[in-house]
Amino acid sequence: MFNIYGHRGLSSKAPENTIAAFEAAAKVTGLKWVELDVAITKDEQLVIIHDDFLDRTTDIVGEITQLEYEEIKHASAGNWFSSKFKDEKLPTFDEIITFANEYQMNLNIELKGVTGNNGSGLSLSMVQQVAEKLKDLDKSLNVLISSFNIYLVKLAEVHMPAYKRAVIFKAAAFQGDWRTLLDFCGSTIVNIEDAKLTKNRVRAIKDAGYELNVWTVNNKMRANQLDNWGVDGVFTDKADELAHLNS
Ligand code: G3P
Ligand code: MG
Repeated sequence: MFNIYGHRGLSSKAPENTIAAFEAAAKVTGLKWVELDVAITKDEQLVIIHDDFLDRTTDIVGEITQLEYEEIKHASAGNWFSSKFKDEKLPTFDEIITFANEYQMNLNIELKGVTGNNGSGLSLSMVQQVAEKLKDLDKSLNVLISSFNIYLVKLAEVHMPAYKRAVIFKAAAFQGDWRTLLDFCGSTIVNIEDAKLTKNRVRAIKDAGYELNVWTVNNKMRANQLDNWGVDGVFTDKADELAHLNS
């Protein structure tokens, strides 16, 4: 089994984490999964965006957790990529559910670590809302919850235990205590950065009985190599070029 995940949608062809990028991914033959990043506003609305700040991927600036949804809902989330996408807005989580049901796509929901002074309260709200909204997802679809933030993965275990959970690691953050971190939040899946990932490390994780996914892999040869090493899946911005590796 080798899964290709469309990282932030088909983010090489459309602005990341927009409905346009998710729809483009859904149209890739054979692709079954998209990855998306969930953040929360000051007034506890879930929006889909990667960075803590709006600056890079929208036409306004500011920190998501310090702004209310009313202040950001009209921002263009696509004009930075191309004027063709100027009407794309930051998707809400409800729109993601609608998208997934319509296109029958599985969801890897990455919970973004919450910044600012109300982090633990907003984190709890985020997880509770995701759990509640996922009740509207078609039962035939698969969900993988993931985060760099162990607290969020632990909250996911408490509030939506039925869904599989992955802990995400930057290469440099993957240290000898990784199994303790996974055990703490009831996870058996490692999502690791590709940087300098070796066959030995892949084998060590797999031989210990864990699932292993790798991000971000945009090179076909590398994806193929990771597949041969026994990796379970890769996140890619170029799902259109890698989807044929799904097995
Ligand atoms: O979950 C894989 C990957 O999305 C993690 O990194 O920074 O792209 O969200 P990032
Ligand atoms: Mg992500």
